[in-house]
Amino acid sequence: MAVSHGKNWTSSTNSRRSLASHDPKPKNAEGSAYPQQSLFGRRKGRPLGEDRQAALDNRLPEIDLSPAINQEKQIDLSAVFGGTPSPLWMEIGFGNGEHLATLMRRHPGTYFIGAEPFINGMSAFLMHIKDLPNDKIRVLMDDAIKLCRLLPDKCLDGLYILNPDPWPKTRHHRRRIVSPENLDIFARLLKPGASLIMTTDVPGLADWMVTHANNHTAFTWQAECAADWQTPPEDWIPTRYETKRANGADKMAYLFFERKP
Ligand SMILES: C[S@@+](CC[C@H](N)C(=O)[O-])C[C@H]1O[C@@H](n2cnc3c(N)ncnc32)[C@H](O)[C@@H]1O
Repeated sequence: MAVSHGKNWTSSTNSRRSLASHDPKPKNAEGSAYPQQSLFGRRKGRPLGEDRQAALDNRLPEIDLSPAINQEKQIDLSAVFGGTPSPLWMEIGFGNGEHLATLMRRHPGTYFIGAEPFINGMSAFLMHIKDLPNDKIRVLMDDAIKLCRLLPDKCLDGLYILNPDPWPKTRHHRRRIVSPENLDIFARLLKPGASLIMTTDVPGLADWMVTHANNHTAFTWQAECAADWQTPPEDWIPTRYETKRANGADKMAYLFFERKP
């Protein structure tokens, strides 16, 4: 695997566990009628500085997947990258993109796709990678699920969803990006043995993600004991959100799942 985390992730012998000592009840009490729409947060914040605006104007078009999305048919990744992109990893909701930019630097032979609808986040990411070549990175400044729906089967070696918006109110749970319907999509995209890596510092969301991923037939939780999900692997790249949580926030959960063969 091109992007590994230096931890000996052995297969779980008991994949149907939850974070708590008891099995939490499935949280999708509102039924399975999740909407197709997955984008609910803000798309723009503070006005952009000149550098960031220039990055959006000049760099984004070179690596932008929106023209491929607009065709509304399955994306030909070889055409998009100018060759077969393998290995290929994706990060959904990369925020300001520090994590994705660091991955790109650490793994120059790996291809990456990133999706982030927040214009300030995308422009920050473009600044982080301004000295890197374009050939192995493609991005979408929009809803990641729109993109996922158009990606081909078994194209991904790994998928990061780091600190997704928690939508803590019960009536908003259907907005969570990790949902049974979206897990079906992720299962379709991930190759057998590929990684689904999710993090959060929100206990209710951690339980939600573990419960739904464990209930899904395609995924196996890699944790063998609490320390496995409570501590990051040695080579973990903390995200901006993770670093900011310092002020008394709850502990992070690092949830590593494997796409079953
Ligand atoms: C709490 S922030 C975490 C950002 C980053 N992953 C980190 O850990 O610092 C959640 C991010 O997910 C993005 N997001 C929300 N819905 C999304 C969607 N449907 N597709 C892609 N990104 C989305 C938001 O714009 C936001 O940047």
